[in-house]
Amino acid sequence: MNLPNYQVFRTLKPSQMAPFLRSEDLRIQSLIFAQQLNRELIERLVRCADHCRSLMRDREGARYLRSRLADKALSLYFPQCSTRTFTSFSFAAQSLGMMVEEIRDTELSAMYKGESELDMLLTLSTLSDAVVLRQMDAEIGLTLAYELHARGMQTRVINGGSGADQHPTQALLELYTLQTHFRETLAEFGDHGKTIAFVGDLKRSRTARSLAYLLGLYPKIRQIFVAPAELQMGTDLLEYLKENGVRYEQRESLDEVLPEADAFYIMRIQDEYSSTSEELRRHYEQYHLSVEKVSRMKESACILHPLPRRGEIPIEIDRDPRAKYWDAVRQGKLIRMALLLYMFGRDDIGSSGGL
Ligand code: NCD
Repeated sequence: MNLPNYQVFRTLKPSQMAPFLRSEDLRIQSLIFAQQLNRELIERLVRCADHCRSLMRDREGARYLRSRLADKALSLYFPQCSTRTFTSFSFAAQSLGMMVEEIRDTELSAMYKGESELDMLLTLSTLSDAVVLRQMDAEIGLTLAYELHARGMQTRVINGGSGADQHPTQALLELYTLQTHFRETLAEFGDHGKTIAFVGDLKRSRTARSLAYLLGLYPKIRQIFVAPAELQMGTDLLEYLKENGVRYEQRESLDEVLPEADAFYIMRIQDEYSSTSEELRRHYEQYHLSVEKVSRMKESACILHPLPRRGEIPIEIDRDPRAKYWDAVRQGKLIRMALLLYMFGRDDIGSSGGL
């Protein structure tokens, strides 16, 4: 297939771009959109993450994992702030033996001298085998992936958060946490027709958008978008769900959804992307949880939040067995290990790790 010029390429649908984002062995080379993932691959990553978990339990297993990618280097380009994604990618890579380098402050890179962001990323791509990037600009990761493909370079690219648009690895870890919470395989989880409520600023939450795409692979799951009208889920995503036959509803009131949903994905106000009026901020408190609201949820419910939180979830809820956002932080490292292993074709570890 011939690579179209970039101006044409950037207007393609993710499904049309996907072939150009694969490496020679047909694995994903650049993970930019959640829509590049399918059920089979997600299940494979979850199995591999489970194997990493059991191998990490003893020294021998951990040593074996540290040999798996010991010949590879990873660059983390994170000019946009991050705690969990940055740290868990770094630890995931180091647990697999990778060399890890980082650029967080562009003022300390040659960009200070006027270098373009793309040239800086091409430098990291030349010196390393994989680049994870997070930034405000939703498109630069795609531009880099295009350039690498056009130059025949094999460097892997992973989107660690692209503006308000997407955050595919966060969606993967939330899905992994949901299936662990419900003690089901992903296939069972997807087939049981669970109801997932997305709550709060859905318009500007890349984590909610990416998770809605992934859950859309399981059409029996019902998605409820609970948000003030100004912050409802984007129409592009709703169109996608419609085209793919996914059941979704839009609501304004959290109260009525509390006893109904099996899982809740709570969002903070994403005010770094556009301004939020004081009135909307006050109104948003309706979308905050409280001990009383949690008491109206099902006993088996699962509460997720990508973190960082502000006032959405009071700390005393953390000890409720339904609160799974801290477990999700741990699962994030494991699923990122699985993703790196998969992208380099080294995910054939088995639970014994060939020991
Ligand atoms: C999220 C992000 O950066 O999009 N955080 C994360 O990666 N865990 C959510 C947020 O910032 O609200």
